[in-house]
Amino acid sequence: MVRGAADAASKLILLGEHAVVYGECALAIPLRRPRAEAAVSGALPGRPVAIELEDFGIRWDGRKRPVPPEVRSFVRIIAAAAERFPQIPARGWKMSVRSQIPSGCGLGSGTAVSAAAFRAIFRYFRVPYTERTVSELVYEIEKLHHGNPSGIDNTVISMNRPILFRRGAAPRVITVPRKSCFFIVGHTGKRHSTAAVVAAVARARSGRRAEYDAIFRSIGRLSKRGARAFEQGHWRELGKLMDRNQELLKRLGVSSPELDALVGAARSAGTLGAKLSGAGRGGCMAALTTDPACARRARRALQAAGAVATFVTRISNHG
Ligand code: MEV
Repeated sequence: MVRGAADAASKLILLGEHAVVYGECALAIPLRRPRAEAAVSGALPGRPVAIELEDFGIRWDGRKRPVPPEVRSFVRIIAAAAERFPQIPARGWKMSVRSQIPSGCGLGSGTAVSAAAFRAIFRYFRVPYTERTVSELVYEIEKLHHGNPSGIDNTVISMNRPILFRRGAAPRVITVPRKSCFFIVGHTGKRHSTAAVVAAVARARSGRRAEYDAIFRSIGRLSKRGARAFEQGHWRELGKLMDRNQELLKRLGVSSPELDALVGAARSAGTLGAKLSGAGRGGCMAALTTDPACARRARRALQAAGAVATFVTRISNHG
């Protein structure tokens, strides 16, 4: 990889979204594809840092005001990087960012572009960074977009390993078993705002606290069992836990007719379990199988049920 280039994985929450905001465990995995990429290179000395966002067709020269809204996070990323490592100059370089990860769909697109951007800056300026630093800095950026992030997205994307995550505790790395499986992901085509869905759950909880907290605790228990099932390759068990988690997410009010349709289609295609993944109310769902023919069938079923994009990812400890 060239000196100032870096990338970052997307992520899939297998169990525990929303409950994780309230201190329960959640299980998440990084996905090698789709990914985000960033590259830093030198520019004319003295010029302000320029930012190119290839997906938006934006080339910002560092001077024009107002700063385009899509560029603002990257301006903050640069400021945060320079604050942490004062040897990073305030002028004379440029950064370009692009991502294959659709935004607002639960796959961690914002987190991944931030992680790729920090890594590219640190690599270009040869600062000695750790993935923990990347995670902490990305978390600060997440807080600007979504008032109460649990920290699961920045942690799984920076660690790039499956984790059982609990807010405020060290994440537990989950080993990938020998027996492989496939996750089939379907995108409803509806973008969601994680901040808005998390805030809606908080509002609903304020009127029904005991009920919501009991649901969160049940989800937390499913996540812990799911982590054991994942490590042991007990995929049938993990599928059942995903189904149960989906029912609890519906009770929290974060599913949607489109998600329910895709989840139903994946189950009818014979998968071991299916649920929404991420904040919900749109975005993506994921289904599990060990059978490649079933994965193909489920993908076709998702397309027929209205998914605007689908992909299959294989989880395996041998590449
Ligand atoms: C978003 O990927 C997962 C949520 O649980 C929010 C969070 O954990 O910050 C919905």
